[in-house]
Amino acid sequence: MTAIQDQVILVTGSTDGIGKQTAYDFAKMGATVLLHGRNRERAEVTLQEIFAATGNNRLEYYLADFSSLTDVRHLAEAVRFKHRSLNILINNAGIGAGNLTNKQRALSQDGYELRLAVNYLAPFLLTHLLLPCLQQAVPSRIINVASVGQQPIDFENVMQEQQYNPMQAYCQSKIAGVMFTFDLAEQLKNKGITVNCLNPGSRLNTKMVREMFGEYRGSVQSGADEIIYVATSHELEGVTGKYFDQKQEAQSIAQAYDRKARQKLWQLSKSLCNL
Ligand SMILES: NC(=O)c1ccc[n+]([C@@H]2O[C@H](COP(=O)([O-])OP(=O)(O)OC[C@H]3O[C@@H](n4cnc5c(N)ncnc54)[C@H](OP(=O)(O)O)[C@@H]3O)[C@@H](O)[C@H]2O)c1
Repeated sequence: MTAIQDQVILVTGSTDGIGKQTAYDFAKMGATVLLHGRNRERAEVTLQEIFAATGNNRLEYYLADFSSLTDVRHLAEAVRFKHRSLNILINNAGIGAGNLTNKQRALSQDGYELRLAVNYLAPFLLTHLLLPCLQQAVPSRIINVASVGQQPIDFENVMQEQQYNPMQAYCQSKIAGVMFTFDLAEQLKNKGITVNCLNPGSRLNTKMVREMFGEYRGSVQSGADEIIYVATSHELEGVTGKYFDQKQEAQSIAQAYDRKARQKLWQLSKSLCNL
């Protein structure tokens, strides 16, 4: 495995929470860290904070609002333009269910249900567009940050037009990420790119959790530790297509193992992303 100091790592959603801690930890190890955010000022402040704390001057930030697939395409282009190869892609950016008293259905800039768009379609598209860079860096790793919050996708109501429930929307977007992980891992088998997903913990102290539940139970550091373990540990070399929880291989809900459901999701995602 390439020494961490020689690795280029993209962490999406690294202006706050678990992603920011993960980016900080990778920077401390000496990696080239590509930060990502949707707001220039927050991204700039994050970069300066991490630089001041680690002394690592191989930090860059990229902007893209994941509620826009055009923004995601621009992000991939910008990364590809600057970096021929990418060792690790951490698909972490996401939104929670919001304030649970607010049941207002929200849409992305492309007119898709917002949580599906930001938490699932954006990383689905970004990952595809960055595959050439990951291929250049083999052995490389893709990590999708999932959740224990998983509910089956209702293919008759994917955009949640009927009976909107933000928690259902969040959980659907998260199982979609797990299903994507399993399929992509299969497609990339023996190509040197592994694809795994993980639950970073439950109710960790982040903006998303505080907004949803008003309280938290665990630390942001524990979530970052989990991501870094799956992204770098030697014992997971070559391990692909797994869902991890607390650094252990775990079971997702049944739909993730339903090949037909996964095929349906894959086709739908390709068409929604215009791939
Ligand atoms: N915290 C937990 O207990 C927990 C449990 C299970 C899974 N997770 C997962 O862990 C990941 C990180 O969540 P977190 O708890 O660290 O949340 P967080 O503190 O709210 O951070 C979310 C990150 O995603 C970014 N983001 C949100 N919407 C975006 C958009 N439209 N475009 C681009 N970036 C966007 C945020 O940017 P801003 O800084 O601009 O807001 C921030 O950098 C998520 O995928 C979440 O589902 C978290």
